[in-house]
Amino acid sequence: MNNVNATEMDVKTVRKDFPILNQTIHRDRDLIYLDSGASSQRPTAVIQAMDDCYRQTYANVHRGIHYLSEQASWQYEQARRSVSKFINAGDEVEVVFTSGTTAALNLVARSWGDENISAGDEIVLTIFEHHSNIVPWQQLADRKGAAVRFAPIDSQGQLDFAAMKAMVSEKTKIIAVAAVSNVLGTIVPVKEVVKLAHSVGAIAVVDAAQSVPHEKTDVQQWNADFVAFSGHKMLGPSGIGVLWGKRDLLEAMPPFLGGGSMINDCTVAGFTPGELPAKFEAGTPPIVEAIGLGAAVAYLENHGIEAIGQHEKELVRLAYGRLEKIDGLTIAGPPADQRSGLVSFVIDGVSAQDIAVLLDQKGIAIRAGHHCAMPLHESLGFNSSCRASFYLYNTVQEVESFVDVLDHVVSRLR
Ligand code: ALA
Repeated sequence: MNNVNATEMDVKTVRKDFPILNQTIHRDRDLIYLDSGASSQRPTAVIQAMDDCYRQTYANVHRGIHYLSEQASWQYEQARRSVSKFINAGDEVEVVFTSGTTAALNLVARSWGDENISAGDEIVLTIFEHHSNIVPWQQLADRKGAAVRFAPIDSQGQLDFAAMKAMVSEKTKIIAVAAVSNVLGTIVPVKEVVKLAHSVGAIAVVDAAQSVPHEKTDVQQWNADFVAFSGHKMLGPSGIGVLWGKRDLLEAMPPFLGGGSMINDCTVAGFTPGELPAKFEAGTPPIVEAIGLGAAVAYLENHGIEAIGQHEKELVRLAYGRLEKIDGLTIAGPPADQRSGLVSFVIDGVSAQDIAVLLDQKGIAIRAGHHCAMPLHESLGFNSSCRASFYLYNTVQEVESFVDVLDHVVSRLR
């Protein structure tokens, strides 16, 4: 068993809620899970909520006039209410369940984008976007003859806001940014970006996949037009995500996917779309996944999202301070006190994949590769990097062990 140290948050108690973390792998290695940026683990409360639904209340939602369907529909809508409150949406119908961040961003690109983008228009992103916040815009630009532009980072790994401002003009119709970079840990001044977008009549789209799980989110304060995030990075199941959008924009947009549940009326002559949010939830939705996400939100609220973020920041400061002492190691992104709870790095003469494989043999899970951010890696001059990402269940000892083992592994590889 790992030794655990409680910081402000009671990590020892938290860890009891995550059965998957209490195991040894590769025969006798304590599992140290430092890959929550890719996907978090789930507490028993989430697993239980989903199990309970399958055992007791599962049926299709919004369709049957029978007991189970009413139970499942109520739970599904209750999950929407929880998410809506968690992000301080003005109205719960602004919360559309999707299969994840990628689906949510594609929905905006296909629906709002196809209606509003024309040849010569510009879409401004940052160079550190995840492919899910690049490719849908590139596809949209290709369909419409528009252009995609990338704002750079400065020497500290922060968004170069002045450069972004200089590339924004009357031609700009969309600015789409990650609230937190999944590689650099850079925290973007979302409100400033939104103001910039609105100053030229563009919409602001926020990929909040790496921020909603870790810090208080208030979509009304951001005042963005669309915000996307995923359940599986915030203790919920995979297969569920959220598109939050301003009601007037969502109401004006055509449905993206056609099918059951999204119509008011359908005849041989055509159809009329349903009301929000059903209009964007064609087909049987991820019912149990939404219920699991509702349970995840309750768990995060119970522990306090601010305390969680604070705990991760302590871990990242510790990791950063120790990593930078390793000879030949370069950390990508901003200084320790200005980043979210993850750290990516490269080491001279040693491949990121080799490091990850050797760490895995010691029971330590990190991610190695381009982290779905190839343009960023290209701009930084490397093909791949290692990334350790932290969450509420990680301990000080785990971070210490990770750096100790890394140090040892690097000496071996050299
Ligand atoms: N988007 C996920 C990551 O950053 C998969 O690892």
